Amino acid sequence: MGKKPKADQVRSARSLALDILAAAARQGRSVEDLLSATLKRHRQLLRPERAFLLELVQGVKRWELQLDYLISQASAIPLRKLHPMVLLILRLAAYQILRLDRVPARAAVFEAGMEAKARRLPPAYGGFINAVLRRLATEDFPLPDRETDAVQALSLEHSHPPWLVRRWLERWGLEQTAARLAANNRIAPLTIRVNTLKTDAETLRLRLAREGVVAAPCRFSPVGLHLSELTASPVELPSYQEGWWLFQDEAAQLVTFLLPLEKGGCWLELGAGRGGKTTHLAEKLAGGGLLLALDLHQGRLRELQLNLRRWGAATVQSLRADGVLALPVREKAVAAAVLDAPCSALGILRRHPEIKTRLQETDLDTFPPRQRALLTAAAAALRPGGRLLYITCTTEPAENEELIESFLAAHQEFHLATNPQLLPAPARILVQPPGYFRSSPAEHDLDGFFAALLAREG
Ligand SMILES: C[S@@+](CC[C@H](N)C(=O)[O-])C[C@H]1O[C@@H](n2cnc3c(N)ncnc32)[C@H](O)[C@@H]1O
Repeated sequence: MGKKPKADQVRSARSLALDILAAAARQGRSVEDLLSATLKRHRQLLRPERAFLLELVQGVKRWELQLDYLISQASAIPLRKLHPMVLLILRLAAYQILRLDRVPARAAVFEAGMEAKARRLPPAYGGFINAVLRRLATEDFPLPDRETDAVQALSLEHSHPPWLVRRWLERWGLEQTAARLAANNRIAPLTIRVNTLKTDAETLRLRLAREGVVAAPCRFSPVGLHLSELTASPVELPSYQEGWWLFQDEAAQLVTFLLPLEKGGCWLELGAGRGGKTTHLAEKLAGGGLLLALDLHQGRLRELQLNLRRWGAATVQSLRADGVLALPVREKAVAAAVLDAPCSALGILRRHPEIKTRLQETDLDTFPPRQRALLTAAAAALRPGGRLLYITCTTEPAENEELIESFLAAHQEFHLATNPQLLPAPARILVQPPGYFRSSPAEHDLDGFFAALLAREG
């Protein structure tokens, strides 16, 4: 018989969500890291409770800007003057009242009151929370309309920061901007990539069915599956633990196809992270060659090593290195290189909504210099005739097209060589002249990736 969970282990999803949001606000930590640590610590939480916890935390982050506006309309006190815990309790309850059909408003209001008590807030704060939530549940607070101020209206309607809306309006106009903002708020499909060293998509689909999971082929990637109807935590499934698959958006699967297959020699990956693309590259290299996977962050490298072991990828050596300072590789030594660059990540807001409130417009200027330095270092390591794949998950031209153009202008020995034919047939439309891969949540229901293949003259 299993052990009975302790009382503190069965705390409600709402309470855990509040802990996560409070820790993130207090310590400036990412809610995603806090979420995964919480889920690991509370392994006995039942699947519906885990799902509710995820929905609450990600939902509050997704709708935070709009929730704050509506709370400010219903509150007699300005938001900046509220006790931080009061504001968090209000956000969490307002999300349930305004965005979740299946939570009755009175349950959300009641639970908010209980949280205020449990966190020993003065009774008057509890009364205030109750009054604001009741107004939100019963009154209508209209959002500003687009005719008066399009930036503010779109920002609040779709809960994206005004600076981002303004940039996108200037770049894409009203219709496309609205479509992109709306797409970022749709829940992304649960997508996995198959480990082709161990199995294939159809065999995995059948195995997942036996494990109680419905898996369907993806539209673009032949090595991807969409999961649904999960009854257990997916990472507890034997097929996951035996390394048959990992979570990865289809767009992240597709970009790796752009590197031409050349068995043998040494390959370099800069910005390997937890190994989403490393494992894919290792499959390409199986049977010959070595992949040197580098990253700056020790924690990510540890996860990378666990993933590689699970994957059964023997051809990879991982190492900590700061690519801006120096690479542990001789010049002109590698046959192929991938730079999965640190970027503003504006293409993956649908999966990582906290970026919307974390990233500031001034942060944008910090990325291109780092990307340029990493690209120059990876390029120097490439032998004549070699190929370099540059990848980001952002929509910012300064980190994408403009960065590649300025690199090519300064390095005459390189040219753009992205070949759409290397992609699975349905995905070839994603490469557009002069040779840039671009995917988007609004157009393709994919994460927003950018990629370009550079060739060094032989
Ligand atoms: C886009 S993420 C990589 C994602 C990963 N390749 C994947 O597919 O899951 C960019 C990575 O670059 C790493 N990075 C940032 N600055 C770096 C530097 N100066 N040198 C090496 N790696 C760096 C970050 O730690 C991060 O893991």
